Amino acid sequence: MYSFIDIHNHSLYKVDDGATSIEAMFSMIDIAYSDNIRAICFTPHFKIYRFSDDEDIGAYNSLLKSHFEKAQKYAKEKYPDMNLFLACEIMYHNDIIDSIVSGKCATLGGSRYVLVEFSPHVSKHDLITALSNISRKGYKPILAHFERYNCIADDFSLLKECKDSGALIQINAQSILKFKIGRSSMLAKKALKKHLVDIVATDAHDHKALTPVLSKAHDKVAKKYGEDYAKRIFHDNQAYILQLNQAPNKPN
Ligand SMILES: [Fe+2]
Repeated sequence: MYSFIDIHNHSLYKVDDGATSIEAMFSMIDIAYSDNIRAICFTPHFKIYRFSDDEDIGAYNSLLKSHFEKAQKYAKEKYPDMNLFLACEIMYHNDIIDSIVSGKCATLGGSRYVLVEFSPHVSKHDLITALSNISRKGYKPILAHFERYNCIADDFSLLKECKDSGALIQINAQSILKFKIGRSSMLAKKALKKHLVDIVATDAHDHKALTPVLSKAHDKVAKKYGEDYAKRIFHDNQAYILQLNQAPNKPN
């Protein structure tokens, strides 16, 4: 059995709306490890409008780095086979490419892949234009929790357009586990049925409610949509992006 890889995770403590203490961060790492997750990419929010200037961004990045070192130390001692990475969940902004190139916000594992989120109210036009812009500049956008965007809920064919514009599609594990209730769950079902999802991640924010757990969603996907597809979207695509050992094929 392969392990899982989580590329959307807010376990890094006291840097955004994720873990509120170092102990909570350690608990989240423990939970992830017991759930067969062997690589985590921490993705604290990067919202450019929250910073007053470049110095402010520098201070934020220093904080991320110092908290990340604590996570690494903890994991290295307790779970030597756990790989940790530090990236960002970037709120799309006009200067996103400049922010990436200048090192203000990080790509996934230093790759060309970037985890990008939008306002839930983003228009179809703005979404496709933004994803195309990122792709044209040689980066590969990963659309964070696609199930949250109103324009995709209103017009499901837009999801395929997002993929055609160069994006990979990420869904939150919790949306898969609630098939019978809510819009997110219905979108999850439709997208998985058509194999439009490329990556399942936890988007974990704490150690009690929105926890870093993938196994339940994995088992459901494997049962309903096939084991090969489950392996691809819980492990293979992420391993390729992070260039982990035995990295398989490039995501579609
Ligand atoms: Fe997130």
